[in-house]
Amino acid sequence: MYDQLRNALMGWYRVNGRNLPWRQTRDPYKIWLSEVILQQTRVQQGLPYYERFVDKYPTVVHLAHAEEEEILGLWKGLGYYTRARNLQKTAREIVRGHGGAFPDNYQALVMLKGIGPYTGSAIAAFAFGEAKAVLDGNVLRVISRVLNLGEDIAKASTRVHFQQIATEWLGTADPGVFNQAIMDFGALVCSPKPICPQCPLAEHCAALREGTVKQRPQKAKRPAKRNRYLHYFYHVENECITMWKRDTGDIWAQMFDLPLIEKMDASPPSSLDLGHMGITSPTMPAYRAKHQLTHQTIHANFYLVPKLTYRPGYTSIEIAKLDSVPYSQLLATFFDYLFSKD
Ligand code: ADE
Repeated sequence: MYDQLRNALMGWYRVNGRNLPWRQTRDPYKIWLSEVILQQTRVQQGLPYYERFVDKYPTVVHLAHAEEEEILGLWKGLGYYTRARNLQKTAREIVRGHGGAFPDNYQALVMLKGIGPYTGSAIAAFAFGEAKAVLDGNVLRVISRVLNLGEDIAKASTRVHFQQIATEWLGTADPGVFNQAIMDFGALVCSPKPICPQCPLAEHCAALREGTVKQRPQKAKRPAKRNRYLHYFYHVENECITMWKRDTGDIWAQMFDLPLIEKMDASPPSSLDLGHMGITSPTMPAYRAKHQLTHQTIHANFYLVPKLTYRPGYTSIEIAKLDSVPYSQLLATFFDYLFSKD
């Protein structure tokens, strides 16, 4: 079965494959650059970035020694600047640990901090002809449709299963060419809006046969993020600030936090809410922040208050020693605002 699929795919690619500059090289460094850029943008938008990077930094040694600001300048418009910084970190790791020679196999590639299974497979296959099948969004879509698999592609177990399938499908083909072929096929034919009437795999496609193309790939809906409204009170006295230590069983387990009340909405707490905190004066938030956690959106209001009634668990922490206690990124941002000198 995979023989037929392989032949049909490779035949299609020979005629319809795109001529892209990173396909004209076996230099692992350039292939790596192209893959990192293409994780950030589409092929057409990525092309000029690729050309500029290769021009400016023709080898991994050039990239390792470049000014970070200059790299970020070249990266401008691609977004997610951490990726650009990590690019240089990995380049430096290669220069330091490998004398500037790019690792030449999958196992050694994924030992690098900045290279994961996808990029490792891509480089290993394209540069060194290693029989590693790549699994990106395109490939997941193609496999889920051709075999009509309804597994949730966000699950690790699905990735493992699809990786086995991709590896079997790759089989005896040239790994570099096969991977380019399946990616191009996913981008040009078996795209999110597929062109089934022109599909070279139509007669082998189980989803087409069963009428489920639109439902593939299956992706479990992410649960909606829960909104939470936290109203914080801070009181600074004698260079100290009042905090308490959070319990387990909720966000920020065992970390320090400011006194707060949680409400169902963002409206300021009423005097009734505030009575038990020992806060009487009407308050306006001095600072507001929206903070994203994995499954929750935190809406925080911070109110400066003239006093706080001591409650069990409260502890007074010297502002100069705040660095040595754990607290949330939300509070870190707030403290930056509160204690910044400018
Ligand atoms: N997307 C990610 N890698 C790609 C590649 N090598 N060619 C085309 N599109 C891609």
